[in-house]
Amino acid sequence: MSSLFSRRLLSLSLLTVLAPVGNAEELHATNTDPELQQPPPAASYGVDCSFPIHSDYEANSCGDLLGDRQKFYEDLIAGCRAKYAYRCDQTEEDRILQLRHQPQSLLNYTTHGFAKIRAPERLFRILKNHWERNKDKQGYEEKWPKGHTYVNHWEHKTTYYNLGEPELGGGLDLAELVSDLAQPIIEEWTGQELRPTSLYGIRVYHKGSILAPHVDRNPLISSAIVNVASDPDMEEDWPLEVYDRDGKAVNISMSPGDMVLYESGTVIHGRPFPLKGKYYANTFIHFEPTGRTLEDVDEEDNYYDSPENPAAYEGDVRLPPYMIAGSEAATRYSISNHWGWELDGSQFEEEFDDSEEDDEDSEDEDEDESMEEESMIERKEAAHDSSSPSCLSNTDPALAPAECQSELESSMKTATA
Ligand SMILES: *[C@@H]1O[C@H](CO)[C@@H](O)[C@H](O)[C@H]1NC(C)=O
Ligand SMILES: *[C@@H]1O[C@H](CO)[C@@H](O)[C@H](O)[C@H]1NC(C)=O
Repeated sequence: MSSLFSRRLLSLSLLTVLAPVGNAEELHATNTDPELQQPPPAASYGVDCSFPIHSDYEANSCGDLLGDRQKFYEDLIAGCRAKYAYRCDQTEEDRILQLRHQPQSLLNYTTHGFAKIRAPERLFRILKNHWERNKDKQGYEEKWPKGHTYVNHWEHKTTYYNLGEPELGGGLDLAELVSDLAQPIIEEWTGQELRPTSLYGIRVYHKGSILAPHVDRNPLISSAIVNVASDPDMEEDWPLEVYDRDGKAVNISMSPGDMVLYESGTVIHGRPFPLKGKYYANTFIHFEPTGRTLEDVDEEDNYYDSPENPAAYEGDVRLPPYMIAGSEAATRYSISNHWGWELDGSQFEEEFDDSEEDDEDSEDEDEDESMEEESMIERKEAAHDSSSPSCLSNTDPALAPAECQSELESSMKTATA
């Protein structure tokens, strides 16, 4: 399922409690939470050791540092090819191409690009409740496009328990609440006003799963992963591998309730080592910067077109505020997005009525009366029909293959136009 959100700008009352920030350099001085300042642990190796990231791996220069990773990779792709033939190689080529050009095409807003914190208690409780009431049911099998290599689904299926699904005790409000609870945290971390672009979960990986290192597609830029539950008897940790600003690998270990904030469009992330446990359940929460810092927001002006902050264009196409003009990503964006980027998602609210979807945990509902009027959400129904895999219906947008890119972006457009 992919949920596309559109919501009003944060209310002023919330913003007044957040420290104002100036520019990206000053950001970190205002993030006083020590957990957000923690430097990442030292790492010894860079890209193309654990998995092909910038090269096709024919010359893995890391030797046996991590065991025979070349053989591991070749076996993995051979398994994919046996089922999907050349499509696997196409996906791999696209994945590597995107890893090579995208990070330097997008603005970074934080010092390290990632940070591990504890999820707010309420956010974790909602996710955990959804997991607890569904974990013994058979989850929906995720449908991956043919030849999609990001997850080794041809060998190890992934399942999910849609947070937006009333039959599972979820609902649109529940999904939206999850996003709403994460938003101020990531806004404070990045110093940017954000708007929701996707919520995905709960995904469950099973024994043997890997997640190929990748960067997320537009417009999934400022993001969080929450570990909802994982096998307490895992044989070994299943680290999230990220690459720091110096290009070195860092393993991040996550326990249930941990939340990793990451700049998902620029920070390479994956889980290249097979899961040695029965299950590992995550939720992914994504936003994009609106182009305003938190300080700008309460001015309620047309910040974008102000002389100090002119919007960037590629040809006639207005670029998202986090995309660098003249970059490769900008060129690609201008080709597939003829309307260009727009801020205002407010018209969408009037068209959408989710009043019949109120079906969430009553304890949470009671606590948040303002939620319904605060924001609106569009849900794309998950289609569980394997005969017609669609880019939008059942593909995690973070991992959508290249051919889904323009479809994904134009759906965001529809949601906000
Ligand atoms: C990351 O974890 C893997 C698998 O446990 C291990 O082999 C590797 O050395 C770790 N890398 C770093 C940078 O800690
Ligand atoms: C953003 O950070 C990534 C690494 O985290 C780096 O590769 C990229 O070049 C940075 N982007 C810019 C525009 O500096």
